Amino acid sequence: MSLYKKHFLKMLDLSAAEIEEYLRVAALLKEKKKAGVPHDMLRGKNIALLFEKTSTRTRCAFEVAAADLGMHAVYLDPKSSQLGKKESIADTAKVLGRMFDAIEYRGYGQEIVEEIARESGVPTFNGLTNESHPTQILADFLTIREEKGTLKGLTLAYYGDARYNMGNSLMVGAAKVGMNFTACCPEKYFPDPALVAKCREIAAETGSVLRFETDPAKGSAHADAVYTDVWVSMGEPAEVWEERIADLSPYRVTTEVMAGAKEDAIFLHCLPAFHDLGTEIGRAIHERFGLTEMEVSDEVFLGKQSKVFDEAENRLHTIKSVIALSLCDSV
Ligand code: CP
Ligand code: NVA
Repeated sequence: MSLYKKHFLKMLDLSAAEIEEYLRVAALLKEKKKAGVPHDMLRGKNIALLFEKTSTRTRCAFEVAAADLGMHAVYLDPKSSQLGKKESIADTAKVLGRMFDAIEYRGYGQEIVEEIARESGVPTFNGLTNESHPTQILADFLTIREEKGTLKGLTLAYYGDARYNMGNSLMVGAAKVGMNFTACCPEKYFPDPALVAKCREIAAETGSVLRFETDPAKGSAHADAVYTDVWVSMGEPAEVWEERIADLSPYRVTTEVMAGAKEDAIFLHCLPAFHDLGTEIGRAIHERFGLTEMEVSDEVFLGKQSKVFDEAENRLHTIKSVIALSLCDSV
């Protein structure tokens, strides 16, 4: 099986064997990095990093991964490129495809990254869209595998807005690798029924069990990993905070939620997280609504079960694996 010249756009496109290959190479490149073994096999290659939304982890992971692989990366932020304003997506993609060996895109609709992939003629990687965050899932799965030794047969419980990029991608990824997945949230935050139907078909083949639970006391039952994400995602209007806080506060990941999971369960979060008053938005929400923590309690976030910083580090190794596998014919 070869991932050479392949795009990396969404979890639905990948087979279980392909996910496994990305994880294998990520672990290998992680070992090399830790041991100080050079792995600059992509010297002379160039990658464009196109960001229409802000980022810390994804941007840094792509830039450091590219540098470790010997590549040159060019970062284009929303203000310094013509994308969408003066030049169409298709024209921009064609131009970048003439200059770069690969393109990373973070932004809004999934159709944008799919169009860049079609029009550019070079491997294109999704660094987050509204619908999907596939590089994050590789980092999450690598972290879970490091902790638990396997993915198949484990149970992942996701608390929060399961309709958005993280809920969608975790559900698809879990179904693909045979991991059980529980979305725990009010019914209106359950993922799109059409996507759930596709995942049920995949799950029937892999043995994964998908569950949708509205009771926050029951969502973490049997969980090996408990996951949450921000209640309001990038690009959503500030007006939705009030409704989200009202709807999702009962679904905060607390010590009680963790106590309902397996004793050795880990806590994961794609980050950034609102777990204290250390952020501007966190303080503004505190002033308006009186909350001191949102999707996860500070206690869980900083607690022994939390693996969020290992997970953040794994963004680097997994993104490096995606670049290396699509630009080298053998890794
Ligand atoms: N998890 C994640 O994608 O983080 P950034 O938004 O900082 O890239
Ligand atoms: N759902 C979040 C994920 C951030 C990594 C967002 O889209 O803002």
